[in-house]
Amino acid sequence: MTDSQSAAERIAQLRSELDDHNYRYYVLDEPSVPDAEYDRLFRELKALEAEHPELITPESPTQRVGGAAASAFGEVRHEVPMLSLGNAFEEQDLNDFDRRVREGLADQLPSSDLFGGGAEVEYSCEPKLDGLAVSLLYENGVLTRGATRGDGTTGEDISVNVRTIRNVPLRLKGEGWPAVLEVRGEVFMSKAGFDALNERQMEAGGKTFANPRNAAAGSLRQLDSKITASRPLEFCCYGFGRVEGGALPGTQVDILEALKGWGIPISRELKLARGVEGCRAYYEDIGARRDSLAYEIDGVVFKVNRIDYQRELGFRAREPRWAIAHKFPAREELTELLDVEFQVGRTGAVTPVARLKPVQVAGVTVSNATLHNMDEVARLGLMIGDTVIIRRAGDVIPQVMQVVAERRPADARPVAIPTQCPVCGSQVERTQLVKRSKGKESVSEGAIYRCVGRLFCQAQLKQAIIHFVSRRAMDIDGLGDKIVEQLVDKGLVKSPADLYTLTFEQVIELEGFAEVSTRNLLAAIADSRRPALARFVFALGIPDVGEETAKLLARSLGSLARIQKALPEVLTYLPDVGGEVAYEIHNFFDDEHNRSVIAELQNPEHGVQLQDEGEVSAEFAAVATLAGFIDKLNIPFIAATGAEKLADRTGSLDALITLSQDWLDLSTLKGVNEKAKQSVREYFADAARVERAKAVEAQLAEFGMHWRSERKVVEGLPLAGQTWVLTGTLEAMSRDVAKEKLESLGAKVAGSVSAKTHCVVAGPGAGSKLAKAQELGVAVMDEEQLIKLLADHGLGA
Ligand code: IVH
Repeated sequence: MTDSQSAAERIAQLRSELDDHNYRYYVLDEPSVPDAEYDRLFRELKALEAEHPELITPESPTQRVGGAAASAFGEVRHEVPMLSLGNAFEEQDLNDFDRRVREGLADQLPSSDLFGGGAEVEYSCEPKLDGLAVSLLYENGVLTRGATRGDGTTGEDISVNVRTIRNVPLRLKGEGWPAVLEVRGEVFMSKAGFDALNERQMEAGGKTFANPRNAAAGSLRQLDSKITASRPLEFCCYGFGRVEGGALPGTQVDILEALKGWGIPISRELKLARGVEGCRAYYEDIGARRDSLAYEIDGVVFKVNRIDYQRELGFRAREPRWAIAHKFPAREELTELLDVEFQVGRTGAVTPVARLKPVQVAGVTVSNATLHNMDEVARLGLMIGDTVIIRRAGDVIPQVMQVVAERRPADARPVAIPTQCPVCGSQVERTQLVKRSKGKESVSEGAIYRCVGRLFCQAQLKQAIIHFVSRRAMDIDGLGDKIVEQLVDKGLVKSPADLYTLTFEQVIELEGFAEVSTRNLLAAIADSRRPALARFVFALGIPDVGEETAKLLARSLGSLARIQKALPEVLTYLPDVGGEVAYEIHNFFDDEHNRSVIAELQNPEHGVQLQDEGEVSAEFAAVATLAGFIDKLNIPFIAATGAEKLADRTGSLDALITLSQDWLDLSTLKGVNEKAKQSVREYFADAARVERAKAVEAQLAEFGMHWRSERKVVEGLPLAGQTWVLTGTLEAMSRDVAKEKLESLGAKVAGSVSAKTHCVVAGPGAGSKLAKAQELGVAVMDEEQLIKLLADHGLGA
């Protein structure tokens, strides 16, 4: 066998394996190998094809990269016209459609019963994806052409572009397909793909898209198909056009299933419904799940299932009589930006809010929309008086998507950030972004503006108290937002500590309070006096410190005193705490005002007593090494291996400092280049840095974390290092409680399943996470088994 023969065989084998993986991934939604394995096969194929370019064929999975840019698209005539659909907006429209269908099929349908009930028609039900219609032509099983719908008769030739769409098969699978098969469907972008694309565009300073539909259209109709290749487009087939040299099954559902078998992706939501009632149920079901679908839909499509019935019904103008789109309420509307006001949040961030001319969007009147920050205002190019596109999806706060530039009035005004806080009048400052890298700090302007008034600012005070008392923080029952507002407005609460000195007389005076409710609230406040350390740390509202980080701080450092004085360098030893967050935490506790609030809370008069303070955890105490410490100093040109060499040679920070000052001695160090040695010299020639390094070392020693400290045996918690996932409904305990219990045994509880997941606890109703666990061979247990496991570790009910 010659070399090229064996290469040809291997190439064929790789292509068939990759096609198969693609099919499982995109069409069946059941990937059988991890991404890494797919990538490995793909790289092998690419390498072989590079060695043997004569063996490259257009259907090879490597040929989805796009080609040379074109100057214009060619024209394609649709032999079978690509039609549009009629719309139903109201229930009555759907009833009318079904009645017309039954009337049109009167001769075919079994006659009506004695009670006047007509025979029901079967409908195929599909989501109406919001993208753009394309036609794909397969000749002898090979993709030969892709076209847009255009005016329905003539479209554009986008063959090169559609080939770059990952889930479009370049060759059909299996057998039995007609020699000429034109399939039709929607090219769209998933919500996640759209968000990722916009994020990338934003980072690169490029144009962002207003919605997934525009993004899909803009990406597909690119003369440079390499750009199309880089965009997360997907295809979903909903029908067919030309069919020659073979036949398709007799119903819409069977046809789509056959196409799926040949490797063409179809909707997972395809269903068969009986009569108009069945259609309505489908509409309701999909409508209820609209927000949780991975892609945007603007309705559902009902089609008479039997193709012979479709033929009988035929067309009216440019719409089939056998299909209808039942639309959902629109989520985007046009309105006018009347003004931009500024709101002050918990951390003092002053954020712009759009005041809009009220408009109905998806059944709700919208008169405000978030604008996030001033960078967003700039990105949108927004001016007061502009006409804007507003979008409201599900429970999400309405968003301003785009300015309609053509409609800008002559008297439009720019949006200006106020120089003084609209609530307390304190100065508003732009935040600085401090980047620390390799021992250097660089400062740039951040997107956020902050009121410097802190708890003196009523807006910040209210938000801080609302957070402090919330369920996952101090959990003070019965202290809702409205009550907090009253307490602050009346001047009864000026800091969280004041909650603990509220009197019966003060509370009963508040609106809506009587004797019992007053006693209940005071009791709830008193009950919160003994929080767990993690809850208290979370309640403080440190920027960037969510519940998980608060738990981590509490579990690792063991006491508030240590958390308060921990240097940022020491905090970065915590898993998942990077430099930025470490500085946020440190700056928070370094701040005199924050310190006084904490001291006041702990003052016996207010009496907050932390429950579970203790030692630095054994795991955390064991993380620091000299080499790691040197690495953390961020000495330019000293990476992890350089740090190890320095640690091996010196054995201590003091010896390292001495070495750095001894030219001759340092030059004998092996395995570290001259530039790096010079950098070590310069680093420790700076007295401030030496002092800082010593301070960090001293703190490690004080916390019992120093590499020389006597190491406690790391007993470790029973589930330490394991990641668990909870899914479905748990009956005996809430998911929160299950999570807390698992965490107390050392497990991390994650939201998604991966090959690294240790175990999935699946209750009734578990869906995709359970399926993924089974597919990846991850252990699964039910609630009963979990209860037993917890009990075995002393965590009984
Ligand atoms: S059937 C003759 N099915 O909606 C039937 N169209 O408003 C033609 N669309 O141009 C279309 N999902 O771009 C059909 N499941 C679906 C669809 C669908 C989205 C789009 C398609 C069409 C437009 C008509």
